[in-house]
Amino acid sequence: MKDFTILVVDDEKIQRESLVGFLKKKKYRTLAADSGERALELIDRHAVDLVLSDVKMTGISGYQLLREIKSRNPDIAVVMMTAFGEIADAVQAMKDGAFDYLTKPIDLDELEVIIERAERLNHLISENRQLKASLQERHRFGNIITSSPVMLEMLSVAARAAQSKAAVLIEGESGTGKELIAQAIHYAGKRGDRPLITVNCAAIPENLLESELFGHEKGAFTGAVAQKIGMVEKAHMGTLFLDEVGDIPLTVQVKLLRFLQFGEFQRVGGTEVKKVDVRLIAATNRNLRQLVAENKFREDFYYRLNVVNIHVPPLRKRKEDIPLLVDYFIKKFSTENDKPVRSLSKEAMDLLMKYDYPGNVRELENIIEQAVVLCREDVITKNDLPVTLSAGLTPAEVPPLEYYPGNFREKVEAFEKDLILDALKKHNFNQTRAARELGINERNLRYKIQKYHLR
Ligand SMILES: Nc1ncnc2c1ncn2[C@@H]1O[C@H](COP(=O)(O)OP(=O)(O)OP(=O)(O)O)[C@@H](O)[C@H]1O
Ligand SMILES: [Mg+2]
Repeated sequence: MKDFTILVVDDEKIQRESLVGFLKKKKYRTLAADSGERALELIDRHAVDLVLSDVKMTGISGYQLLREIKSRNPDIAVVMMTAFGEIADAVQAMKDGAFDYLTKPIDLDELEVIIERAERLNHLISENRQLKASLQERHRFGNIITSSPVMLEMLSVAARAAQSKAAVLIEGESGTGKELIAQAIHYAGKRGDRPLITVNCAAIPENLLESELFGHEKGAFTGAVAQKIGMVEKAHMGTLFLDEVGDIPLTVQVKLLRFLQFGEFQRVGGTEVKKVDVRLIAATNRNLRQLVAENKFREDFYYRLNVVNIHVPPLRKRKEDIPLLVDYFIKKFSTENDKPVRSLSKEAMDLLMKYDYPGNVRELENIIEQAVVLCREDVITKNDLPVTLSAGLTPAEVPPLEYYPGNFREKVEAFEKDLILDALKKHNFNQTRAARELGINERNLRYKIQKYHLR
């Protein structure tokens, strides 16, 4: 017997029984009802996947039944059986959300094809539901590891904010877990089963940001060969996460402000004013208040973003989290690498506790991943940790040129990556100072950090 239940609804006994007989032969679980009222009773008590219903019945009609089923459970597929030639009936049924319709007398081959299609859709729906559930599971607040009172207080504010539609601004140094918190807020809230659209504002070149956010019409500018739907539109009914919001140029800030005030926007090159319902979360590792003072960030935009403020403290200010995180990452990476690493020597833990983590949790995560991969026993020792930890923060020396592998372009890229990493380490991952030392602008630096996965 197949795991797919079909309910046949018809007030004519012969018709009903012949359909049930056919479906049983095809190994479907079947139920039968002689009226719409009886059908609804059965639907409430059994898990029905598909309803095959006559249109004209005494009592409530097939259409009323269709609408009632759809309001109780939109996932149930309803196939209507209409009288031959009643096209208007069929059209009405499809408008009301029927999966398909059949004209009488019923062609059984046609019926079988429709049922198989409904089975496939049913399968996709349940697969999709499982995927969503596992996404929500992975992004629960419970997966944010901490025992620090400040963090716990902050998470309780975040959890309450998740239940509202208020804009949230998450501030904190690089690698402190801002994105993790943004995801938890989205998935814990009412919009958790709707899309979370993330825009990394620093990674998108300035001149493309507006069209990336709001979309554009065909021919809006050179290169706009086709119409494009923007992130704002994709986030409809869901959440838009503006990461690195401090990097948004003033011109685009104005447009986002208008969007936040009225929920309205226009595609680049478009005339139509569009409206969407979007929840906004923003994050930044820069000091927005200071940017406001320097006239690099609009004050009105800042206040719109900062309805709920969440500040994530750096790891060095909550060192009690280090042992917990170490434990968590050892488990994570020993499973991922299929290596039975159990723990960490006391000496190694002492070193980890003394270090200041300019790259915060991400840096600790990288250190543990490397250590798990490198270590030879089932306990991580101080030799498995980067020398910088014991040597007290001296940036790695730049190695000789032969060291760089690959062809010309690969060598150049590897060298560039090292130079950037070096500058970042030297300045405690302060991007402004690192960029100044390298003699490149910050936007360019951020783009390269993204490109080489240096975070
Ligand atoms: N409390 C935590 N528990 C578990 N993992 C964490 C925690 N905080 C951060 N991480 C992990 O550290 C890494 C960095 O976190 P995340 O990307 O959220 O940081 P971020 O603040 O957005 O950094 P950036 O400013 O560089 O974008 C991720 O792999 C994340 O899973
Ligand atoms: Mg981030």
